[in-house]
Amino acid sequence: MNYNVAVIPGDGIGPEIVTEAKKVLDAVGKKYGHNFSYTEVLMGGASIDATGVPLTEEALLTCKKSDAVLLGAVGGNTNTSPWYKLPPNLRPEAGLLAIRKGLGLFANIRPAVLFPQLAAACPLRPDITEGGFDFVVMRELTGGLYFGERHTETVNGVRKAVDTLTYDENEIRRIAKWGFEIARKRNKRVCSVDKANVLDSSRLWRAVVKEVAAEYPDVELSDMLVDNCAMQLVRDPKQFDVILTENMFGDILSDEASMVTGSIGMLSSASLGEGKLGLYEPSHGSAPDIAGQNKANPIATILSAAMMLRYSFDLDEEADAIEAAIHAVLNDGFRTGDIMSEGLTQVGTKEMGDLIVERLA
Ligand code: IPM
Ligand code: MG
Repeated sequence: MNYNVAVIPGDGIGPEIVTEAKKVLDAVGKKYGHNFSYTEVLMGGASIDATGVPLTEEALLTCKKSDAVLLGAVGGNTNTSPWYKLPPNLRPEAGLLAIRKGLGLFANIRPAVLFPQLAAACPLRPDITEGGFDFVVMRELTGGLYFGERHTETVNGVRKAVDTLTYDENEIRRIAKWGFEIARKRNKRVCSVDKANVLDSSRLWRAVVKEVAAEYPDVELSDMLVDNCAMQLVRDPKQFDVILTENMFGDILSDEASMVTGSIGMLSSASLGEGKLGLYEPSHGSAPDIAGQNKANPIATILSAAMMLRYSFDLDEEADAIEAAIHAVLNDGFRTGDIMSEGLTQVGTKEMGDLIVERLA
């Protein structure tokens, strides 16, 4: 079978990590008899430099026509890069928001897993993490504050800025369904996170999630306020299976969730909509400070490619094979700089990709 993958290398370490993910996909293809055709697409700073905008209509169309999109990372150093002198709607991150909206990708899944081999990198006390943890943050991605009406004005000489947090019940229902579906494939527990003690949008969120829960009697639903959730993530991360939440809360909580694993270089993500088309990218950023130095950890991107096989192509066995190869490489003591500890073997971006490919053969 042939799969058309739109590939967005992006900025910073993006191109290097995407190269390794393609290498691994090709190795899987060879082993299981699939062919992956790649079409390169510009987005973010790379697109600004070439075309003046962070995402062209043509680039979006190429992604729409593909079977899945694999993304490295976009953006540069916000203090020094000329991209950040441009108006906000022309900066690299605007490309990311435009592609999410343009492809209708309203569901963002970010796994937070404590890899047993990397337990020492976890910043939490060992008694908190004993036995490991494995949960996902399911974040609404195309609504809320990110896409609400906003403006800045001066009223009677006083500067004022407005952002609006809007959700309608349909937007809440469709992401809630995703949350319950994913929970069904995991440990069947959804924790819906909101700020219902203050916000109307959260009160609607809570009510609609409860309605959806009635369709999933086999899945247990609980509610949690977002400030409490931020605390519980460091107090007892093992309690979570699926955290279901709106866009802004999910942005913040997913960074926290990745940090408590101690290895942001290992965490993948998938953004999905109604159909099979998805966008797959590492949870980390473009790390411009180490770009082009063969230092970046490609594992998050390779795991994102595995998610692509699982969610867009229904190739579960192939995805399992990639994950197993990564575990084998870690068990053999190979590490990139970000996850290195004493007595193990440090390797670069390219070597890490090669090692994973070797174990897939
Ligand atoms: C993320 C990022 C983006 C977001 C930024 C780069 C716009 O932080 O994917 O979490 O806030 O969604
Ligand atoms: Mg974020």
